[in-house]
Amino acid sequence: MATARILGTGSYLPDHTVTNDDLSQIVDTSDEWIRTRTGICSRHIAKGETTADMAAEAARRALSFSGMQAEELDMILVATVSPNKAMPNTACQVQAKIGADKAVCFDLNAACSGFLFALSTAAAYIQAGVYQNILVIGAEALSTLVDWKDRGTCILFGDGAGAAVVTAEEDGVIDQLSGSDGKKGPVLNCDTGSTISMNGQEVFKFAVSKVPEIVNALLEKNQMSAEDVDFYILHQANKRIIDSVSRRLKQPEEKFPMNLDSCGNTSGASIPILLDELNRSGKLLRGQTLVLSGFGAGLTWGAILMKW
Ligand code: COA
Repeated sequence: MATARILGTGSYLPDHTVTNDDLSQIVDTSDEWIRTRTGICSRHIAKGETTADMAAEAARRALSFSGMQAEELDMILVATVSPNKAMPNTACQVQAKIGADKAVCFDLNAACSGFLFALSTAAAYIQAGVYQNILVIGAEALSTLVDWKDRGTCILFGDGAGAAVVTAEEDGVIDQLSGSDGKKGPVLNCDTGSTISMNGQEVFKFAVSKVPEIVNALLEKNQMSAEDVDFYILHQANKRIIDSVSRRLKQPEEKFPMNLDSCGNTSGASIPILLDELNRSGKLLRGQTLVLSGFGAGLTWGAILMKW
């Protein structure tokens, strides 16, 4: 049976960066506090670029990497919680920008788990034989949803987009698990037209228990052990969360690549941006086993087991 294989990746990060020292000019914080509590040193913030602009640029780069033409795409899926328009959806805006005329286009909101849910959806369409070539994008302008007076949240987030071109092949996505708990919605919330509010400690506790739990369940379901995985590509929210997952899975930190020091938490874009960075630097080799996993508002969480 065909599954979804990632043919190529692309990403876009705004040129404008904001350092921890810059933030200490606007809220009562310090580089030291942010660095030690989160691992974040700076983040990219959009200045003029919309979510759709960033998504389209990441898409162009992914298409060019994979050698596929926009006209060959059957579907565009954009995971975002920070679209620049309520309608048309971001995926339709990307379609118009890149000329993917035959693609079916829609957005999906699962906050920071968005790319995982979108890639699982793409894989399901491909496995069902409905579509062949799908562009999966995570794109966020979190800076538009952040309360820049709230030091508890504004230090965490960044903007950017990452994209993956997936196609029907024998190897690729092997399996996925995902979940949601709507009752925990208030823990990480953003009302329409308002800004993000968060109970940081609750999110932290949830993440450090749920991510290892779902990764272990996914590996067990596929009769694999944590050692069989070459890289764990985790949602880039906080270095302490990632280090804790590495300890709980008893796997070396080298298997947990990170770029949150320079990107912050880019929500649905964090996993595809990191994937693209690793892909372009030649770290990902054909045949390697990867686990992608993350968590976010909803609450939502997910994990994907795949061959590169
Ligand atoms: N700079 C300086 N001090 C800060 C601060 C900042 N940016 N933000 C909060 N503080 C203060 C608090 O006011 C508190 O002060 P108090 O003890 O006088 O009340 C103290 O630091 C400790 O706050 P606390 O919330 O307990 O810190 P923490 O160790 O839990 O770290 C987070 C806060 C947000 C970094 C951490 O909880 C976290 O990363 N949670 C997960 C969030 C996340 O990943 N969200 C996205 C999910 S997709």
